[in-house]
Amino acid sequence: MVSFSFHFCFLVLFAIFLTPTHSLGRICLPKQHVALFILGDSLFDAGNNDYINTTTDNLANYGPYGETFFNYPTGRYSNGRLIPDFIAEFAKLPFITPHLYPGYHQYTDGTNFASAGAGALVETNQGLVIDLKTQLHYYKKLAKLLRTRLGHEEAKKLLARAVYLISIGSNDYFALSTSNSSALQTYSPEEYIDIVIGNLITVIKGIYKKGGRKIAIPNLAPLGCLPIARALSSNNTGACVEELSTLAKLHNEALSKSLQELENQLDGFKYSIADTYTSLSERINNPSKYGFEISKIACCGTGPYRGIFSCGGKRSVKEYKLCHNVSEYVFFDSIHPSEKANQQFAELMWNGTPNITGPYNLKALFEN
Ligand SMILES: *[C@@H]1O[C@H](CO)[C@@H](O)[C@H](O)[C@H]1NC(C)=O
Ligand SMILES: *[C@@H]1O[C@H](CO)[C@@H](O)[C@H](O)[C@H]1NC(C)=O
Ligand SMILES: *[C@@H]1O[C@H](CO)[C@@H](O)[C@H](O)[C@H]1NC(C)=O
Ligand SMILES: *[C@@H]1O[C@H](CO)[C@@H](O)[C@H](O)[C@H]1NC(C)=O
Ligand SMILES: *[C@@H]1O[C@H](CO)[C@@H](O)[C@H](O)[C@H]1NC(C)=O
Repeated sequence: MVSFSFHFCFLVLFAIFLTPTHSLGRICLPKQHVALFILGDSLFDAGNNDYINTTTDNLANYGPYGETFFNYPTGRYSNGRLIPDFIAEFAKLPFITPHLYPGYHQYTDGTNFASAGAGALVETNQGLVIDLKTQLHYYKKLAKLLRTRLGHEEAKKLLARAVYLISIGSNDYFALSTSNSSALQTYSPEEYIDIVIGNLITVIKGIYKKGGRKIAIPNLAPLGCLPIARALSSNNTGACVEELSTLAKLHNEALSKSLQELENQLDGFKYSIADTYTSLSERINNPSKYGFEISKIACCGTGPYRGIFSCGGKRSVKEYKLCHNVSEYVFFDSIHPSEKANQQFAELMWNGTPNITGPYNLKALFEN
């Protein structure tokens, strides 16, 4: 099944000999090697923000983040692994390293550009995150580097076979709803959604132009039902904030439509959308069916629903509580899923049936 292209190894060794300061850990790529490139926000950031100038709001490099799996904080916003970590495991790849990790050059397995707090709009958390457009810029630079290192043909194959996993949008809608957003005075919700989707599509076209063909996106969660939204809900009933979930729903409809159009426009383009909105809603409404006990309250945080974003005590609110058994919880902190929930979402992305993940699931994207 797996065969190696040996003639190519020689060329790479030669290239490395010429540029001794850079090395590509893996030199001989199996023909079917499929890399994983990751872009997006805190659902996917495995530690890039640890290397930028930002605030503790956009950092998870302190306990109890990371403690139940890695035994130390890695920058991941969960108690353990994130969705891309499980996807890498299913694809028999190592964990994909953050792009900014010092000394990292093992790019033939892919790389992770995601940055906690990032949105599709440059204005979302501007100055504190690596926005999506800048993540694309890093990808373009990497594509160029790979062409120099591997040669045009091999680089082209690697980039075309690779899967590009993107999580983006939640922060754009949080920014719209929680701050005194000037965007809210300028645009209608529908116009704002069009701009968010437009920016995302521009980035996907940018990836396509550099050779990427396979895009996978979890759609937006019911944002109004996250513990942070319940805690803020104006009537103090802890009900979901319908306005936020509606934005997510409209975004998801526009996303499906736009990706379908893109598939018609771009030769060889394939995509996968996983319906996170539905799968998270099901777990929130019926936790025991999925092996959880608590779905409205976060494991880590303070205030109503532990919805105040203070997990770890390093942000503006220092007080926080931590649950005893995180396996019972859908949410680890006020915003982010627990590792167990991430694993279930990753499984749905990997081999979900067409009613949840389509038109392709990730297993199919990796195999074709
Ligand atoms: C990081 O940001 C802070 C606050 O905006 C600023 O004072 C500091 O100079 C910045 N540091 C670097 C290295 O850019
Ligand atoms: C929001 O912005 C408007 C117009 O810029 C201003 O009049 C209002 O006081 C602001 N509200 C808050 C809560 O900052
Ligand atoms: C207020 O609470 C009710 C449930 O009692 C809910 O249906 C409604 O959406 C809530 N309003 C807001 C703004 O969250
Ligand atoms: C933690 O919760 C899970 C899921 O409910 C359960 O299977 C497990 O036994 C619990 N562990 C402990 C130590 O209570
Ligand atoms: C999707 O289909 C599977 C069976 O093919 C079923 O078990 C599952 O409940 C369906 N999910 C939804 C959200 O409809």
